[in-house]
Amino acid sequence: MIRLATIGTSTITEKFADAVAQTPGIRIDVVYSRDAARGRAFADRLGIDRVSTDLEALLASGEVDAVYVGSPNGAHAAQAESAIAAGVHVFLEKPATPTADQFAVLVAAARERGVVVFEGMRNVYDPGMARVRALLPQVGTVRLVSFGQSQRSARYDLVLAGQTPNIFDPALAGGALFDLGVYPLTAAIDLFGPPRAVVGATATIATGADGAGAAVLAYDGFVAQIAFSKIGASRRPNEIQGELGTIEIDEITAPRRLRLALFSGITEEIEVDGPENNMRFEVARFAALVRGDADPTPEQERSLAVLRAVEAIRASAGSSSAREEGGGGGPTPLSHS
Ligand SMILES: NC(=O)c1ccc[n+]([C@@H]2O[C@H](COP(=O)([O-])OP(=O)(O)OC[C@H]3O[C@@H](n4cnc5c(N)ncnc54)[C@H](OP(=O)(O)O)[C@@H]3O)[C@@H](O)[C@H]2O)c1
Repeated sequence: MIRLATIGTSTITEKFADAVAQTPGIRIDVVYSRDAARGRAFADRLGIDRVSTDLEALLASGEVDAVYVGSPNGAHAAQAESAIAAGVHVFLEKPATPTADQFAVLVAAARERGVVVFEGMRNVYDPGMARVRALLPQVGTVRLVSFGQSQRSARYDLVLAGQTPNIFDPALAGGALFDLGVYPLTAAIDLFGPPRAVVGATATIATGADGAGAAVLAYDGFVAQIAFSKIGASRRPNEIQGELGTIEIDEITAPRRLRLALFSGITEEIEVDGPENNMRFEVARFAALVRGDADPTPEQERSLAVLRAVEAIRASAGSSSAREEGGGGGPTPLSHS
């Protein structure tokens, strides 16, 4: 039995707990919160006895095998580093870390310590994505991909009222790209591999974070466009255009309705049967990796490729140190070393 501790007491940790409850071989034993009363109230909601407000002591206790990191993005790296140093496996909420280098350091440390570090990017573990992949050969040579995730956040009202909620706080790696853009980016990189070059642009809001943006990923022979927003909404379907036809995907975070339309005249509507909470697939995968059933390296490489693309978008959009140092402003070739 994998004994978990959770970090973070927001809705997403509750959803994670629901997924864990549906997964054999893994359970939550301890809730960590920076605040005892908040931790107690949260643990009571989940029906968990133990609460900790001392993360280092909890990690050193030998009473947990793994930790779920559901804190703001900017806190992930330090918490994961502590867990790995204590020999505790790490499930990181997406995006794993704000930069690729930070994640590479965690991967190296985890390898050395013999533990797993895993990014919970729920769409790539969803059965809907496997159906999309299975349809790909039917559309022939892929030429144009268009993926997006735009969902207005209620917390944008706080920004409009002059506040800086975590999710829009650049100091905590908030913003639309880190929060939502990573879903379509990951889907593209999971299906097609790392791009040859990336260029992006973002719309900056009052907090200094990006509220919306877009990117173009250049591949040999085709192009993928990525759109993301937390200050507007879209119901536009995602598309993969090939020389023989097009695949439409309703939701890039949880593909449920797919449509295949071929120039031969064949069309097919596909309903994917999936649960409302698709975190259960990533939880099952994490448990399998912790048990040693598979090698986490390919998934870690994918996470790294996505984070490199995120950095390239930020650099060309002028929101990273690369721009401050005079870089940016054009397509950014990616190094895959
Ligand atoms: N997979 C998904 O569908 C999904 C959905 C939403 C969010 N997420 C991811 O989940 C993570 C949390 O997002 P969120 O919007 O829930 O964040 P949040 O509400 O700002 O913070 C989550 C928790 O972290 C703790 N926390 C808050 N501020 C902190 C700080 N400055 N330093 C350290 N801990 C802090 C709080 O717990 P305590 O005060 O109790 O310590 C809080 O409940 C992010 O990585 C996000 O990308 C994933």
